[in-house]
Amino acid sequence: MDLNEAAKLLGQARHVVVFTGAGMSAESGVPTFRDALTGLWSRFDAQALATPQAFDEDPALVWGWYEWRRQLVQRVRPHQGHLAVARMAAHTPELTVLTQNVDDLHERAGSTSVTHLHGSLFAPRCTECTRPAPVPDTTGDQPDEGRRVDPPRCPHCDGLIRPGVVWFGEALPQEALEAAAVAASTCDVLLTVGTSGLVYPAAEIPRLATRYGAAVIQVNPQPTPLDPIARVNLRGPAAEVLPSLVSTAWPQ
Ligand code: APR
Repeated sequence: MDLNEAAKLLGQARHVVVFTGAGMSAESGVPTFRDALTGLWSRFDAQALATPQAFDEDPALVWGWYEWRRQLVQRVRPHQGHLAVARMAAHTPELTVLTQNVDDLHERAGSTSVTHLHGSLFAPRCTECTRPAPVPDTTGDQPDEGRRVDPPRCPHCDGLIRPGVVWFGEALPQEALEAAAVAASTCDVLLTVGTSGLVYPAAEIPRLATRYGAAVIQVNPQPTPLDPIARVNLRGPAAEVLPSLVSTAWPQ
């Protein structure tokens, strides 16, 4: 049975990489990008908003959209799958969490040293001096989807503050990419959860792991381009599959 095979691989691993995408946040209520029904793509032209050009043209529209997303994330909670990933740290000698997600659900579930390949909604920075900026205190406020909100100004140089996420056409943070490449090339098992495996260079991570001999386990209700490289494909939602996988790999 696939779950038992996956649990055996996980239980015997010295170094596990957990590589997550938007599907990992879906059951917490954060829409995925490519889900045709409710994904952010269908409600917004997210691709048009997630570019440096869009921010240059209308900083308030782009800042307002990311503020809406950040506050949506602050209103939802990590699910049992996030908690299962956090529990893995107590069992596997080395655990690296790499995520394409810009939310903080892994951290709020207790995972430490999460590497954000596409940045974070909680790391705004100055467009001029690039210093980190504080996350606005917006408790109680809730901008409507699409409401324009003027971005704050940098207290050091008065530059515009931008969201700390990677936009289309921008390079991924070099430090994050390097950490991901080291982890992928030294792990025994890479558990890929909730990603369509379509967006590079992040999508290269599971493929790099197989080239270095790691076993890839995939958790996704749907088939993806990663199916052929996965040793085990667990067809199901993260919040259901991950707790079963962890409790089978490391029975209490
Ligand atoms: N559990 C596991 N997987 C799920 C679940 C779930 N409950 N619900 C959906 N999925 C899967 C979908 O089947 C899909 O394969 O999650 C995947 C989501 O794919 P995408 O929406 O393409 O998200 P992702 O792979 O993270 O996109 C990568 O693209 O747009 C950029 O920067 C953005 O980080 C994002 C990147």
